[in-house]
Amino acid sequence: MTTDKINKLIDIAAEKIYEASHVVALVGAGMSAESGIPTYRGSGGIWTKIGEPDPRSFQNFMNDPKLWWERMLNPDRVNVESPERAKFTKALAEAKPNPGHFALVELEKIGKLDTIITQNVDGLHRIAGNNNVAEIHGNRNYYRCLDCSSRFLRDEFMIIDIPPKCPNCQGMIKGDGVMFGEPIPSDVLARCITAAQNCDAMLVLGTSGTVYPAASFPTEAYMNGAYIVEINPERTPISDVVTTQIAGATGDILPLLVAKIQDGIIISYLFGTKYYGV
Ligand code: OAD
Repeated sequence: MTTDKINKLIDIAAEKIYEASHVVALVGAGMSAESGIPTYRGSGGIWTKIGEPDPRSFQNFMNDPKLWWERMLNPDRVNVESPERAKFTKALAEAKPNPGHFALVELEKIGKLDTIITQNVDGLHRIAGNNNVAEIHGNRNYYRCLDCSSRFLRDEFMIIDIPPKCPNCQGMIKGDGVMFGEPIPSDVLARCITAAQNCDAMLVLGTSGTVYPAASFPTEAYMNGAYIVEINPERTPISDVVTTQIAGATGDILPLLVAKIQDGIIISYLFGTKYYGV
C-alpha cells in the first residue's frame, strides 16, 4: 500500500469515527508487538515456535490446581523447561505502552472510544491510561476467583496455602489469564457482547481474527450496520468483512488517525462545519 493510499484511507476512517456515536476497539497481540511482546501466530509468534498450549489446560488445572501453583511460584523451573516461554514472560513483564496505546487513550479522552475489548493479557491499555477496558482473555497482573470472579492484584495478594482461597468467598483462585479450554468469565463476556452489539464503529487492531468469541465481534457489528476499520500489516479472515482495511502497524497508523479525528473536532468547533476530511 502506498503512503498516498494509506493517507486517503486514514481520512476516510477518521471521518467515519468522527461521525460515529459508539466506537469500540477490538485489540489483538499485534497492538503490543511494538512494545516488544511477540505475537502468538505468524513468524516470530510464540505458538509458532513452541506450539499451541494443550486445549485441556484448564481441565488439567482443575484436576491438579496445586501442581499449577507450585510451577507458578517456581518460575525458574519453568524457565529451564521452556526458554522460549521464559523469553515471552520476560517481554511481557518489561513491556511499556507504545504510541498505538497512547493514541487510544487520546481517543477515549475526546469521547470517541467507548470500550476497548482486548485479547491481550499484558495490561498495557490500563497502564497507558484507558479507563474502559474489557480484557476478554484476562490480565496477567491479576488473580481471579473462579467462584465469585473477584480480581486481586498479584503483587498485593497474600498467598498462605496453595491453591489459595478467595478472601471474599473461599472459592478457588487462579491467574486471571484465560487458559485454553476455560470459559470466558461471564462478567467480562457480557461487557464485550454489549459493547460490540451497541457500537456503530469498530476498530479492529492487530488481531489475526482466529480466536472465538472475540473473532466474531467484527462480523456481528458489521451485520448490525457498524462501520469497521482494520489496521494490520497483513490481511486476516476479518479483512473480508471490513469496510476499510489499512495495511500498517498500529503504532504508526493510530496516532495519525486520532490526530485527524481531533482536527475534525476542532474544525467543527471553530467553524461549525462538518468534518472536512474527505
Ligand atoms: P495473533 O498472534 O494470532 O495475531 C497477531 C496479529 O497481529 C496478526 O494478524 C499480525 O499480522 C498482526 N500484527 C503484527 N504486528 C503488528 C503491528 N505492529 N500492528 C498491527 N498488527 C500487527 O494474536 P491474536 O489475534 O491476539 O489467547 O490472538 C488471539 C488469542 O490467541 C490471544 O489472545 C491468545 C492466543 O492464543 C489466549 O492466550 C487465551
